[in-house]
Amino acid sequence: LTIYRKDYIAPGFWVDTVEMGFDLDPIATHVATRMTMRRNPESSEKDIVLFGESLKLLQLRINGVSVKKSSYSIENGILRIRNAPDELTLDIETLIQPAKNTSLSGLYVSNNNFFTQCEAEGFRKITFFPDRPDVMAKYTVMLRGDKKKYPVLLSNGNLIAEGDLPGGRHFAKWEDPFKKPSYLFALVAGKLVCQQEKYKLKSGRKVLLQVWVEDGNLDKTQHAMDSLKNSIRWDEERFGLELDLDRFMIVAVSDFNMGAMENKGLNIFNTKYVLANPSIATDVDYAGIESVVGHEYFHNWTGNRVTCRDWFQLSLKEGLTVFRDQEFSADLVGTATGRAVKRIEDVRLLRQVQFSEDAGPMAHPVRPDSFVEINNFYTVTIYEKGSEVVRMYYTLLGHDGFRKGMDLYFQRHDGQAVECDDFRAAMADSSGRNLKQFERWYSQAGTPRVKVESSYDKASKTYELTLSQSCPATPGQSKKLPFHIPVAVGLLNSNGKDLVLNLEGQATPSKATTVVLELTSAKQTFRFTGVAKKPVPSILRNFSAPVVLEYEYTDEELGHLLAHDSDAFNRWEAGQRLAMRRLVKLTKSVLQGEALELDSMFVEALRSTLNDRTLDPSFRELVLTLPSEAMVAEEFKEVNPQAIHQARQFMRSSLTQQLRADLLTAYEENLTPGKYSPDAVSAAKRGLKNLALSYLLEWPEDATFALAKTQFDEAQNMTDRLAALTALTNFSGSAKNAKVSAQALQKFFRDFKKEALVIDKWFMLQGTARTTDAAKVRELMKHPAFTLSNPNRARSLAFSFCNANPSRFHAADGSGYALWADLVVALNKLNPQVAARLARSLDRWRKYPKALQVQMKAALQRVADTSKLSKDVLEVVTKALAS
Ligand code: ARG
Ligand code: ZN
Repeated sequence: LTIYRKDYIAPGFWVDTVEMGFDLDPIATHVATRMTMRRNPESSEKDIVLFGESLKLLQLRINGVSVKKSSYSIENGILRIRNAPDELTLDIETLIQPAKNTSLSGLYVSNNNFFTQCEAEGFRKITFFPDRPDVMAKYTVMLRGDKKKYPVLLSNGNLIAEGDLPGGRHFAKWEDPFKKPSYLFALVAGKLVCQQEKYKLKSGRKVLLQVWVEDGNLDKTQHAMDSLKNSIRWDEERFGLELDLDRFMIVAVSDFNMGAMENKGLNIFNTKYVLANPSIATDVDYAGIESVVGHEYFHNWTGNRVTCRDWFQLSLKEGLTVFRDQEFSADLVGTATGRAVKRIEDVRLLRQVQFSEDAGPMAHPVRPDSFVEINNFYTVTIYEKGSEVVRMYYTLLGHDGFRKGMDLYFQRHDGQAVECDDFRAAMADSSGRNLKQFERWYSQAGTPRVKVESSYDKASKTYELTLSQSCPATPGQSKKLPFHIPVAVGLLNSNGKDLVLNLEGQATPSKATTVVLELTSAKQTFRFTGVAKKPVPSILRNFSAPVVLEYEYTDEELGHLLAHDSDAFNRWEAGQRLAMRRLVKLTKSVLQGEALELDSMFVEALRSTLNDRTLDPSFRELVLTLPSEAMVAEEFKEVNPQAIHQARQFMRSSLTQQLRADLLTAYEENLTPGKYSPDAVSAAKRGLKNLALSYLLEWPEDATFALAKTQFDEAQNMTDRLAALTALTNFSGSAKNAKVSAQALQKFFRDFKKEALVIDKWFMLQGTARTTDAAKVRELMKHPAFTLSNPNRARSLAFSFCNANPSRFHAADGSGYALWADLVVALNKLNPQVAARLARSLDRWRKYPKALQVQMKAALQRVADTSKLSKDVLEVVTKALAS
C-alpha cells in the first residue's frame, strides 16, 4: 500500500497532445479522449501504464484499431497495455457518474453544476491516463451539454469555438496553449454568472479577468477581483513574472474539499475564499480571500509553468507559493508593523498546528519519503513549514540574492517537472553559497530545538552566545544530523536601544543591529566584541527559522524586550513568553488544587502595551491575545485539557477584572463608524476593539453584557456582529442574560439563513462555545441546516468541536471520542479526504492521561475496524495506533 520516493521511475510513454470530448450528463457523462503518445527511451517501464478509478471503459483503440483483450489488463486501478508501438494515437472512451461522486475529486456535481478537482489524483476518475505530474501535454477540450441547464461551459486556456447543437444542446471548445500535467485539468459547466473586466498588464497587453459565481452572488465578487488584480501586479513587480494567458478565470463552488485549486487559467475556489461583502464576511474572511486568490494566481508560475516531478516534491510548489502569498499580503499592507503582524499570524499557525504535527504520528519531512494516500500529505508541514524553508533561503541570501535564485530557477526549469533539489541548486548556484547541509530541512522531520546560553565578560567587553541544536526522533527517523539554521540576533542596551554589532570572525555590515548567526554544528559559540555593558539578547528575530528557542530569560528581560525590542516579532514573543510561563504555572496549580493568582508585573506589562497609542492596534491585539489552549498543551508531557482551560480562563478573567477601565477605553477609542472598509487600518481597530469586548465579557457584569448586545443589534458589518454574538454566547451570567444570548443566536440564524457561509459561522460559533459538549453537537447535527456532505458545513461544526474545543472534546466520559468515531465513519462513506482530516484529531492521543488514552484508543480501533475503510482514513488511524 505504501509508495516510496526512492522507487520513482520515469514514465514509459510521454503524452504530447490530449483531445477530450465531454457529453455532460449528471447520471452518465461520456468522455472520449485521444492522446498522442511516444515511448520514453530512458524509462525501464516498457508498457503503457494508465491509471483509472471508478470508470467504465467503453473503448480502447491504438491507431484506430481496438486493442485486443489479450494485450491489456486492468488491475488495482492500473490499465496496462503491452507491446505498444513507439509512437501511437490512443483513443479511450469512458463513462462516469458525476452526480454519484460525493468524494469531490474528479468530475462532480454541486448545486446542479459540474466541477472538477484533479489534484492530486482526480483526473484518473475521468479517464484512464498516465495521471502523474511529470507527464505534461497540450490539451484541447470539447464540452457539450444541455444549453438551458448548462449555459456556461468552461475549461483551461482559450475559448476557440462555440455554437449550438441539435436537441437544445450546445458546445464550447477550449485550447490550452501550455503543456500541463493532468492534475491541472479543469472543467466547469452550469448556470453561472460572472463579473469581468479587461486588465492591462505592465507590458501593455490586455487580459480578460472573470470571477464566476451562482446567480445572486454578483454583489460578493468585487474583493476577489481586486485581489486578483493586486496579485497580477505584485508578481510583475516583485518577481518579474507576467500572466501568460489572455484570459484568467476564477470560479466559486460551495462543495469543495480544500481552499482552492490552481488549474491552468481556470482556478476553482471554495466559495469561502471568493464571496465577500460587508454584511456576510469578516475582516478575517477578507484577508483570507486576498491571500488565497494570491496563492492560486502565484501557482501559475510556481506550480504550473514549473511543476513537480512526483508528489513527494509537493512542497516545491506549495512551500514556495505559500511563501509568495505571505509576502504578497505583507507587501500589500506595506507598513513595518503590518509586515510584523502578518508574520506573527503566520508563525502562530505554524507553531500551533505544524509543530504539533511534527511531534505526532503523522510527522513527515517537507519532502516525504513515503505515503499511503497523497491527499493526506497536503499538510501544514508541506505548506507552512515548506514556506519557512523557502523563507530561510530568503534570510540567508537576502532580498536580491533570493530574487536571483528565483530568476535562475525559471531560466533553468520553465516547462519542466522538477524536484526540491533543483530549487535548492538554483539558490546555491545563483549565490555561490554552499547549501548542501541545507538539504536536511527537506529530508529530516521534527522541530529542531535551539538552546542558547549567554555570558558577558566585563573586562574584555565581550558577549558570547553559545547555541546548541537537537531534534527529537520522529517515526522512522531516530537520529538527526545538525541543520543549517539561520538565527537572527540583536542586542539591546538598558535603554532598550539596539547595539551596533561586531561579530568576531564575521564581516558585519557597518551599523548592523541585527546579524544572522549560521548555526551548522551541534554546538557553536558566537562572540560579540565592544559590548560596554551586559545586554539583553533578542534571539531568532522575525522568527528566522522554524525551531523552538530555549533561552532562560528572566521576567525582567522579557519585560524589557516587550517594551523596547525594535524587532516587532520578538517584542510580541516576549509577551507570549511571559504569558506562557504563567499559564503553565497556573495549570499546575489547578492540578494541585492550589489557589490561583496572577502577578502584577504581568498585568502591568499588558496594561502598558494596551494603552500605548504609539503601537498599531493590530499589534496590541496580538500581544493581548493569550497563547491558545493547544499551545499551552505543547508545554506538558501529559495534557489535562480541563486544567489548561481553567487556568487560561482564570487568566482572562483576572486580566479583565484588573484592566476593565483600560479595556473600555480601548473599546471606545477603536470604534469605526461610517462605511465599512476591510483595509488594514480599520480592520486593526475592529480587531482590538472586539478583543477588548471579548475580555470585558469574561467578567459577569450587566453593563458590559449590554455593550455586546448593543453592538450585536447595531452592527453594520459581519465582523462586529459575529464578535458580539460570540461574546454573548460565551458569557456566563444570569439566566436572564442567557436568554438574551439564545435569542440573539436565533435571530442571527433567521437573518442569514440564505447565506451558507454565514450559517457555517453560526455552527462554528456553537461548535467552539464553552458550554457545547458532544451531546449538544449531536443535537445540532439534527438541525435541518446541517449536513455532513458539504465539507464547509461538516468542518463548521464537527471539526470545530473536535479541534478547537479541547476541554469539551476531551470530556472524561469519552463522549467526544465516541462522536468523533461516528463522524469519521459516516464521512468515510461520503468523502474520504474530509474523513481523513477529521481522523487526525486523535493523532496525539498518547499525550493524555491514561484514563483518556484508553478511550481514545478504543475509538481509533473502532474506526480502524470499520469495513470498507478508505486508504485515506486507514493511513491516519493506523499510524496513530502504531505510535
Ligand atoms: N494545490 C491546491 C492549493 O494549494 C490544493 C489542492 C489540494 N487538493 C487535494 N485534493 N489534496 O492551492
Ligand atoms: Zn497551493
